Amino acid sequence: MSEKAKLTLGDKTIELPVFTGTEGEKAIDITKLRAETGYVTLDSGYMNTGACTSNITFLDGELGILKYRGYGIEELAEKSTFTEVSSLVINGKLPSSDELKTFEHRIASHSSIPTALQTMIKAFPNNAHPMGVLSSNLAALSAFYPDMLAQDLTGPQKDEVIIQLMGQIKVLATYAHRHSQGQGFIQSDKTLDYCSDFIHMMTGKAVDKEVAKALDILLILHVDHEQNCSTSTVRMVGSSKANPFATVSAGVDALWGPLHGGANQAVLEMLEEIHKEGIGYKEFLTRVKDKNSSSRLMGFGHRVYKNFDPRAKIIKVACDSVLAKLGVKDPLLDIARGLEEVALQDSYFVERKLYPNVDFYSGIIYRALGIPTNMFTVMFALGRLPGWMAQWKEMLETPGFKICRPRQIYTGEVNKKLSR
Ligand code: CMC
Repeated sequence: MSEKAKLTLGDKTIELPVFTGTEGEKAIDITKLRAETGYVTLDSGYMNTGACTSNITFLDGELGILKYRGYGIEELAEKSTFTEVSSLVINGKLPSSDELKTFEHRIASHSSIPTALQTMIKAFPNNAHPMGVLSSNLAALSAFYPDMLAQDLTGPQKDEVIIQLMGQIKVLATYAHRHSQGQGFIQSDKTLDYCSDFIHMMTGKAVDKEVAKALDILLILHVDHEQNCSTSTVRMVGSSKANPFATVSAGVDALWGPLHGGANQAVLEMLEEIHKEGIGYKEFLTRVKDKNSSSRLMGFGHRVYKNFDPRAKIIKVACDSVLAKLGVKDPLLDIARGLEEVALQDSYFVERKLYPNVDFYSGIIYRALGIPTNMFTVMFALGRLPGWMAQWKEMLETPGFKICRPRQIYTGEVNKKLSR
């Protein structure tokens, strides 16, 4: 017999279906709650709301588990590549080597942008934040591909625009960076793999294999993270059947905030501040624990992980190895290690189950790779794009999908009249 939840409201009891996921997660399906009782559920910040079912990513925040399409993130980071993982996440299965070659070749064939967009990037002030430049230009791409503006894209059209965006985000990101440095644009080298080409287009220098490999691992770790703020934004915007360029541009904007992807930049700035001020770790933690101060220990805490973020574990190890291989000694790494150690023993962080997240150590690697701080969140966007688009495609192809439209409980004035 299928499991049901019983809900009693006054003298009426109703039964609600229970939905069980493939990893055993349970949810009470409240779709008919309002129709049957007049009640809605209230869950500010979606702390306990399953907004959809999805076959893409599984995350267990208590155990610190993250899997894409059933494969553990640890194994993928060790044995796969960013493009292979992207194909896995988007298409639902690992590609054969021929399929992967075709996928990479198609991405490479889209590694350019219209000349008018290049002019547009040059029109931004040099000190514009590259996330703003990226988001604006992603939306602007819609002007150049009218075929992709159809309300109901076919399956092949969706696949094409996803691959196109993977090629073009690389160009937009590197051009935004080059412009901010007052440097000319560098064309894609189609003989290079995705990450090597990115570094080539950013720096114009010969690409170090260690640097490209480290970047590849970082991007794999960022590919998807189920219904986080930016992915939910992509689903929300995409659910109105907005075009894919506008949809992904909205995802970039949601990611930019310091509580989400913008935390990687904020962590580095925090570590630099500690370094500059020479403040002790305990003293700094007193500052972030103070409820009258708005500052937080950036790179710590997570809505879902109440244990180590598995991505942070991999990144911490990679950080040591990358810095050693590149012969980089970074005082900020010592500060990060020291801060983590003290925080993990502090009752404030222990009681609230606050652990380092993906952003705590990633900035130190980006810095060692020569990527400037204001590009860190752009790197996150580059890695997250395949996840956003896989979720977008999955949503649009789910039979009977609906526009996202939460309810609210009104708490304002009632029955006011104009005194005129
Ligand atoms: N430093 C100090 N206190 C914290 C922190 C932190 N980093 N994170 C949470 N807290 C405290 C918070 O003040 C609250 O305390 P109290 O119960 O006394 O009011 C408690 O812990 C619960 O925090 P919350 O804000 O209710 O938790 P949330 O699930 O709404 O927020 C978070 C999650 C990630 C926004 C938050 O932990 C945070 O602001 N962290 C710093 C920013 C950061 O590193 N963001 C990157 C997240 S991982 C990348 C990504 O996928 O986005």
